[in-house]
Amino acid sequence: MSKSITFTIQPGGKLCGETRVPGDKSMSHRSIMLGSLAEGVTHVTGFLEAEDALATLQAFRDMGVEIEGPSNGCVTIHGVGKHGLKEPKNALYLGNSGTSMRLLSGLLAGQPFNSVLTGDKSLSGRPMKRVTDPLAKMGADIKTTEQGTAPLQITGKAGQLTAIDYTMPMASAQVKSCLLLAGMYAQGETRVTEPAPTRDHTERMLAGFAYPVTREGSTAMISAEGSLKAMDIDVPSDISSAAFFLVGASIAPGSDVTLKHVGINPTRTGVIDILRLMGANIEVLNEREVGGEPVADLHVVYSPLTGIDIPEHLVPLAIDEFPVLFVAAACAQGQTRLSGAEELRVKESDRIQVMADGLLILGVDAQPTPDGMVIQGGKPIGGGVVESHGDHRIAMSFSIAGLRTQAPITVLDCANVNTSFPEFKDLVKALGLDLVCTGA
Ligand code: S3P
Repeated sequence: MSKSITFTIQPGGKLCGETRVPGDKSMSHRSIMLGSLAEGVTHVTGFLEAEDALATLQAFRDMGVEIEGPSNGCVTIHGVGKHGLKEPKNALYLGNSGTSMRLLSGLLAGQPFNSVLTGDKSLSGRPMKRVTDPLAKMGADIKTTEQGTAPLQITGKAGQLTAIDYTMPMASAQVKSCLLLAGMYAQGETRVTEPAPTRDHTERMLAGFAYPVTREGSTAMISAEGSLKAMDIDVPSDISSAAFFLVGASIAPGSDVTLKHVGINPTRTGVIDILRLMGANIEVLNEREVGGEPVADLHVVYSPLTGIDIPEHLVPLAIDEFPVLFVAAACAQGQTRLSGAEELRVKESDRIQVMADGLLILGVDAQPTPDGMVIQGGKPIGGGVVESHGDHRIAMSFSIAGLRTQAPITVLDCANVNTSFPEFKDLVKALGLDLVCTGA
């Protein structure tokens, strides 16, 4: 991937207008996976046409699934049934996408063929033992590097996996989903217990495809008894992409933004709760349910923010939004403290260190801790040159900070914005951010 894309943001301005951000990344991945395993034809609308979701789509094409599109967010998947995937000719390259790799490792562990999963530099450095260890307990054979990272060499164990009753050491929807997918091919009932609620799109979508998955408290259960029936999926806008506008409008005086058709699954709305605790003015309008997922329009207007201690129970519910929430904290009066978020250190970058480094360059008092950050906000913020470290959410977060800096910000290494939100620069510019993209 090219490292040469740079965003330069002129300071000040505000965000005003109405927009619809692209489709939810988590749901887009799952729509391809489950649609491929279904019997019949699944039509997806609102699919996220970004590198991560396209990596999943390509992987299933490589396993013999006929998929039409994407075209304007529409994808047609000719499902091959639960046992219809074919051996891929080459390694499946999953780019930057942790969700693709972790979910696929579970799905492929019980297939009648071998496979290899590879990724880019960032993905090749991310921990995979969190999935390969419990999968090994089920009888899977997956080799990692000595460091427990990709490439993953999977020897398919069709008919040989057995269910486990597993309590996850960390709150991870990727681990939970990986084990549920493996459980669809295991003898007995697979039970996965989470230490705190994590996004439940896999469970909801499985139910939509008529595959039995049950829940008892914090435990999700699945077995090999069942098949998936094709369905139509309308993917709502990604609240993780909407978050840049929620924060941008909250920190820039005069802002007034409406975000249409945003997924507000309660396992994803921590960003709204945290911003409201800080004093943000966010209205949730026209709440409705679309294909088993709650959706709403979000209306946000500027409101002065105050620093808070972020309640730990909200951490997994906002796990992808902390980079931009740190920007909100830098603009909020007083101290904001985050703890219990050590998972941020193993995302596409070490999001605690990388954000603290960048905020420091802008003159913000941001102290990283092993599991969070302490930010003294509300003082004037300077400009400067910051590194995204190839992490899409870092690049977009520092771009949004430009609404409140006193000098231009240059964000280096922004090509990775294409992994989740290729339209970012056009949409923020249309609403008022003075962003220039060079090196494309
Ligand atoms: C995701 C789960 C989260 C999140 C990631 C997408 C998913 O990861 O950070 O962007 O689609 O299941 P963890 O489950 O590892 O926290």
